[in-house]
Amino acid sequence: MPHTAPLLMEIRQLTPNAAAQACEVVRQSITHCCVLDHAGDPKVLNAWLANKTEQQFTACMAAPRAMAWGAYRGDEMVGFALVSHATLALCYVVPAVLHQGVGGALLQAAEEGARQAGVSELALESTRTAQAFYLRKGYVPAGAVQAWAGLCAQPLRKRL
Ligand SMILES: CC(C)(COP(=O)(O)OP(=O)(O)OC[C@H]1O[C@@H](n2cnc3c(N)ncnc32)[C@H](O)[C@@H]1OP(=O)(O)O)[C@@H](O)C(=O)NCCC(=O)NCCS
Repeated sequence: MPHTAPLLMEIRQLTPNAAAQACEVVRQSITHCCVLDHAGDPKVLNAWLANKTEQQFTACMAAPRAMAWGAYRGDEMVGFALVSHATLALCYVVPAVLHQGVGGALLQAAEEGARQAGVSELALESTRTAQAFYLRKGYVPAGAVQAWAGLCAQPLRKRL
């Protein structure tokens, strides 16, 4: 029986050329990993996905003070993170690689990139799905839960 070694995961900083792949990763993650948030309700899910387009990702990734990272297994992007100014705007992993350290590695790259850019505190709005993840990584609540289109987001922050 042929033996194939498992593909190693690698974090790469991205240019807007990777927008289409990044957009697909985020759409897959929202749809399949965030059921705790959207509960399979098509209205909520569609509202969430409405601005997850290649065009929107290209613009966000090309914006001033934006930095993006992809987690790759071989040529396949399996996770994506975007920092905009002092905000972690996106951090999403595809369902096939959940709980394998990909999200943690992306978060570490984003925090390091922000720190190098002079950011002293990183803010984000967490899904319900990711809250325990961020709390384990040292984030603390920073204000009241924000409700939007049937979704709830918990503001969190961490000093870098
Ligand atoms: C949140 C998310 C990015 C985490 O990615 P992941 O690759 O599964 O996380 P990791 O395997 O790197 O886990 C890192 C750490 O968090 C912990 N962790 C991961 N998911 C967790 C969960 N749901 N609850 C509690 N702890 C969790 C792990 O045990 C690990 O802890 P350790 O480093 O102390 O051992 C991933 O669950 C995801 O994409 N979720 C859906 C999208 C989402 O909600 N993104 C956040 C938008 S704000």
